[in-house]
Amino acid sequence: MCGIVGAIADRDVVPVLIEGLKRLEYRGYDSAGIAVINDHDVRRVRRTGRVAEMEAAALAEGLQAQLGIGHTRWATHGGVTEANAHPHVSHGVALVHNGIIENHDQQREKLIAMGYEFESQTDTEVIAHLIHSFLVHGADLLTAVQAAVRELHGAYALAVVSRKEPGKLIAARMGCPLLIGVGEGENFIASDVSAILQATRNVIFLEEGDTAEITRDSVTVFGADNHPVQREVHLSDVSLASLELGPYSHFMQKEIHEQPRAIADTIEGVIDAGAFSAELFGADAAQVLNGIEGVLILACGTSYYAGMTARYWIEGIAGLPCSVEIASEYRYRDVVANPKTLVVTLSQSGETLDTMEALKYAKSLGQERTLSVCNVPESAIPRASKLVYYTRAGAEIGVASTKAFTTQLVALFTLTATLAKLQGRLDETGEADYIDALRRLPGSVQHALNLEPQITAWSEHFAPKEHALFLGRGVHYPIALEGALKLKEISYIHAEAYPAGELKHGPLALVTDEMPVVVIAPNDSLLEKVKSNMQEVRARGGELFVFTDADSNFHPSEGVHVIRAERHVGVLSPIIHTIPVQLLAYHVALVRGTDVDKPRNLAKSVTVE
Ligand code: G6P
Repeated sequence: MCGIVGAIADRDVVPVLIEGLKRLEYRGYDSAGIAVINDHDVRRVRRTGRVAEMEAAALAEGLQAQLGIGHTRWATHGGVTEANAHPHVSHGVALVHNGIIENHDQQREKLIAMGYEFESQTDTEVIAHLIHSFLVHGADLLTAVQAAVRELHGAYALAVVSRKEPGKLIAARMGCPLLIGVGEGENFIASDVSAILQATRNVIFLEEGDTAEITRDSVTVFGADNHPVQREVHLSDVSLASLELGPYSHFMQKEIHEQPRAIADTIEGVIDAGAFSAELFGADAAQVLNGIEGVLILACGTSYYAGMTARYWIEGIAGLPCSVEIASEYRYRDVVANPKTLVVTLSQSGETLDTMEALKYAKSLGQERTLSVCNVPESAIPRASKLVYYTRAGAEIGVASTKAFTTQLVALFTLTATLAKLQGRLDETGEADYIDALRRLPGSVQHALNLEPQITAWSEHFAPKEHALFLGRGVHYPIALEGALKLKEISYIHAEAYPAGELKHGPLALVTDEMPVVVIAPNDSLLEKVKSNMQEVRARGGELFVFTDADSNFHPSEGVHVIRAERHVGVLSPIIHTIPVQLLAYHVALVRGTDVDKPRNLAKSVTVE
C-alpha cells in the first residue's frame, strides 16, 4: 500500500524522489505527490493516478530542491482526490504518512477549536497541524514531531520537513516500516529499501517508537524515550536487477521464471548442510521447537494457501496436529490456546497488518513459541517472532504472488522435515531422500516452466469466459485454490476452487460447456478418485483442462485437454503443479489485456485492516 521516500542532498533530489516513487508503485496506490523545500518555502505537486502523471506536472513546474519528501497513497480515509493525496502541509510543515491514526477525529476537533482549517478528509492532515501547533510554541521540528506523535494512537511512518529548518528531514516510526538510507554527504528515508537502492545500499531500520533527525551529513536516531540510540547500519542485499524488468514483459512473468533460482537460494542452507536441523530457524530454535504439541499457521491470501499445503505435510510427515487460520479471522475469534503450540506466521512482505495482529493475539494468549516465514529481512513480523526462516525469493514486484509462494512452500517443507526429525519420525534414509528431492526440485520446476507454450495455447479458451472452476484433491487442493486466486486476481475471471470430491455437493450444478474446469491431477494415490470426479464433469458437458504428470497414463480425449509435467516428483509435487496454474493465469490475463502487475483494487502489501 502507501509508500514513502525522502531525501536530503547537495544535488537536486526531485529525480531521486520520483524514481523512488516509481520503485514503490508495485505496492499499490491511487495517487502520488512530492513536496520540496525551496527558497524557504514548501512547493508541492500531487496527482491522482500514476506517478508518471505527477512527474510530468513536477517537470512542468520546474521543481528542483535539495530537500524533499514523496508519497504514493492508497486511499483509506477519504476518496481518491488530489486534496487527499500526500504530502499534507500546515503553515510550512509538509509531511507524508503511512498507517492509520485511530484518534484522528478527536485530534481534528481539538485542532479546529484551535483555529486550524482542514483541506482534506485524511487522518494524516491532523498530524501536520499538530506538529505546527507545537512549532508555534517555540519547539524545533524534531521536538515538535516527538511531541505530536505522543498524542497519536494508531500506526505511522512519517517523513516531515519544514520551511523554517531547510537542512533537516525528520522521521518517525510506530507500527509501519521505515528506514534511513545512509549515503555520502546525502541521506534518505524510505518505507521500503527498493525506493532508495538507486542511491545507497546502507540502511538503518528504525524500530518501534523511534524518531530520527537527518541532515546531509548526519543521522541521529532517538528511541521511544527520546534519548539518542545507536542503530546498526545494514548492507541491503536486495539487488537493483531484481527491481528491473530485463527481457520480460511483466514482473509477474519474470518472477514466475525466477522460481528455480529463488527456490535454490531458499534451500541453499539445507542443501549445503545435507541435513535438516533446528539451527536453520535460528540459534535457539531447538529450545522452541522441541516439545511442541502442534502447529498453528496464520496467514492471508496466497500465504494462507501455502499454509494449507503445509498442513498436509506437517500432519502426514511430522505427525503433529496442524491448524491453518486466516489471520483476519483468528484475531477476532475466541480460541483455545495451547502454550506448546508452535505459531507460524507466513507473510511474504512481513508487514501484513492482519497477520501481525493475529501474531500479537496468539502471543497474548500465552503462545510464545513463534516462527515467521518471510521474504523481507527486518520487516515487522519476523521482528516480532522468536524464530525466522527467510525465503530468498528476492524482491517480488508483481502484486499477484508467485515466487514468494513457492519459496514459502520449500521453507515449510524444510520446517516439516525438521519437525519430523525432532519428533523421531525421520530416519537417516528418509532425510537423505528428502534432501535429494529438494536438490532436484529447481530442475523439475524449470521443466514445468518449459510447458509454457502449451499453456499459452490453452489461454485462448479461457480468455472469453466469465467463470472457471479449479479442482484438486489432498495436498493439491490448496494448489487449486491458488490457481483460482491467481486467475481472478489478474484476469478478473470469476474462479472458484473445490476439493474434487466435493463437486457433487454443490458446484456440479454450475458445470456447463461455458464453464472450463481445471483439474490438478498428479500421479499420486488420489488420481483414480480424481478421474471419477472428472467423469462427473464430462457427463455434464464440462470441458476439462487437466494438469497431470508424465507417468500418469492419462490421455486427452474429446473435451479433455491434458498437459503433463515430468514424472511425479512425490511429496514436493504441489510445488511443481503450482507453475502451470501461475502461467495459465498470466497468459489469460495477457489475452484479456489487463494490467497484470497492478491489478485493479489490489495492493501488494496490505498494511490496513
Ligand atoms: C495481498 C497480496 C497477496 C498476498 C497477501 C498476503 O493481498 O496482494 O498477493 O498473498 O496480501 O501478503 P503477505 O505479504 O502477508 O504474504
